[in-house]
Amino acid sequence: MDLLDKVAIVTGGNSGIGAGVTDMFAKHGAKVIIADISLLESDSLADKLQRQGHEVYAIETDVTKVETVESMVSETIKRFKTIDILVNNAGVWAAQGFVDRAFSSPEDWDITYEVNLKAVATVTNAVVPHMKSNSNGKIINVASVGGKIGSPTNPAYMASKAGTISLTKSSALEYAKFNINVNAICPGFVWTPMAMSIEEQLGSNHPEFTNMTPREIYDSLVAEKIPLGRDQTPDDIGNLAVFLASEYSRNVTGQAINVCGGFNMD
Ligand SMILES: NC(=O)c1ccc[n+]([C@@H]2O[C@H](COP(=O)([O-])OP(=O)(O)OC[C@H]3O[C@@H](n4cnc5c(N)ncnc54)[C@H](O)[C@@H]3O)[C@@H](O)[C@H]2O)c1
Repeated sequence: MDLLDKVAIVTGGNSGIGAGVTDMFAKHGAKVIIADISLLESDSLADKLQRQGHEVYAIETDVTKVETVESMVSETIKRFKTIDILVNNAGVWAAQGFVDRAFSSPEDWDITYEVNLKAVATVTNAVVPHMKSNSNGKIINVASVGGKIGSPTNPAYMASKAGTISLTKSSALEYAKFNINVNAICPGFVWTPMAMSIEEQLGSNHPEFTNMTPREIYDSLVAEKIPLGRDQTPDDIGNLAVFLASEYSRNVTGQAINVCGGFNMD
């Protein structure tokens, strides 16, 4: 119970990696607010975890809208009086209709910038005053190994994640004097709804993947590119999030840590 009674907000916390982080935080004793744009799925995960005895609640939040972010933070304070941990996890791969091409469309650039990067600053700005008043806080930004290595097929996403890594370092410098640690997690391949849609796009655009299901494409990429060669789950990301949210990481800040089975080693 490394997070006993800590209050955490997880953006995009009802699906894939965010759901894994929410689940792990709850199991380690945290009280969790799922701040996701899709309320139905958030309510359903919160209900499931409440039935297991955990304090998990859903608040409908569009992280790109300052007003809804501020009202989610106020509601969290009203319920729990404090905020100890923020996980900026909400993310998008690209705008609807993304197809494999050399350069992302203007819509891809806009949505990935708005959700993956600018919203990290928006939610952080709304939460930090509460952490400052406690002289304590842990902020975890979910970036991607893509932000370190780039890609020829979705530069907008990769740039947004490189931006998240940069923002993590700036925030770590800005908030260190308030005893607020800010770190990024850089996942490699994780089988989630986002991964499924990426593999669907690969399947429709690359002849070598024709007649393969999205899961088969994903498994073939893991086998080819991941030194450890095993499937990676949202819980693998959740494990690092628990460490970064706990006092075990009290002297870790400004880092961008990969969880990728050795896919990238920088
Ligand atoms: N799956 C992977 O292989 C992988 C790899 C590296 C990084 N990531 C990153 O991990 C994070 C989670 O991705 P995932 O794979 O679990 O994807 P996912 O699509 O399963 O989950 C993303 C969540 O973000 C929410 N969201 C989207 N826009 C939002 C908004 N405007 N406001 C609030 N919530 C919003 C969605 O509703 C969803 O619940 C993302 O930041 C993603 O870029 C994923």
